[in-house]
Amino acid sequence: MSHHLNPSELEALLLRSIDQRYEAKAAQSLADYIFSNHLFQSFQPGFLDFSYRYREEIANYLSDEQHLAALSTYCIRSTKNYTYQRNQFINFPQFYDELLLAQYHDFLLQLKNALEQADTIEDLANLYAAVLQKHHERLRLILSSYCAAYQPGDLQKNPLLKTVPCAEYSPQFQLHLLGLDTAELADPILDIGCGESGNLVTYLRENGRIAIGLDRLVPALPNFVQQDWFAFDFGSARWGTIIAHQSFSTHFIHTHLHNSEKAQKYARLYMSLLSSLKLGGKFCYAPGLPFIEAHNEKTADYTVTKTIIEADKTLGIGEVFYSTIVERIA
Ligand SMILES: C[S@@+](CC[C@H](N)C(=O)[O-])C[C@H]1O[C@@H](n2cnc3c(N)ncnc32)[C@H](O)[C@@H]1O
Repeated sequence: MSHHLNPSELEALLLRSIDQRYEAKAAQSLADYIFSNHLFQSFQPGFLDFSYRYREEIANYLSDEQHLAALSTYCIRSTKNYTYQRNQFINFPQFYDELLLAQYHDFLLQLKNALEQADTIEDLANLYAAVLQKHHERLRLILSSYCAAYQPGDLQKNPLLKTVPCAEYSPQFQLHLLGLDTAELADPILDIGCGESGNLVTYLRENGRIAIGLDRLVPALPNFVQQDWFAFDFGSARWGTIIAHQSFSTHFIHTHLHNSEKAQKYARLYMSLLSSLKLGGKFCYAPGLPFIEAHNEKTADYTVTKTIIEADKTLGIGEVFYSTIVERIA
């Protein structure tokens, strides 16, 4: 047995093992996660040998509350990434963060107990199998309860278990689709749902604009805010331009089609976004939102301009996919 790993080397290897676990499950869907338990109840090859070899160091590492908290946070971020990559319409609120935190904390403590109890690698394999089975069952329950709360009924048919990946686009593509010209945008610019790479915000800043990105997953750079739209304070008369390319409105439409109660929250947020615009400020988004724009088209406070892009094949909201610019004029 080797004793040559210092805590930071050990931590790097543990984080790598977590990444490998998600990579190994890359081909699986969320429906597999709920209905094909056996696919998730095993560790990747090599993890057993690694953890048996360094069992004392790992158990010591896991005895420290700060290490446990850091590893749990890393696991939660990876789990959320994994989930959102498979269906972008899932969005765990704070309450689910708390459930996940409690679960990962407990899981890591149980791994520590297994490492302390095992006398042989076979013992460890058996203990790990039991711990992983329980862990997967609980995570499965957390995801199922989220899906059932979103849309009650037969879980097999739940829309959140379908694969709806989340793509990110080049700045040029986004600006073109929204019909925007960088030089004509009014500062400050807020990109809501800017994506984990924040491409458009970086591009706008490189072109001298004052731009900020907001998303639940953002790059670790200045001018990006990692927060849920529903928790962010957009303020009043603050933004020259708000951009939402295939983000806020895509989610609004999905919710409108599947969960009318939650759609009210989107409608309220839509109105706060409009009142956070300065006079002359614009909210630019695609796809368009026919069911709410009709209301603003009738008021004297805003103008609504729609540009048809192409036939809609995915969202089921009608014949067309269009971009919208709402300008605050009063
Ligand atoms: C399809 S991606 C589009 C990214 C970017 N606008 C682009 O076109 O490349 C949608 C983005 O919305 C973000 N998102 C979804 N729901 C969110 C929420 N409630 N709060 C913050 N961001 C959210 C996702 O994390 C994702 O990055």
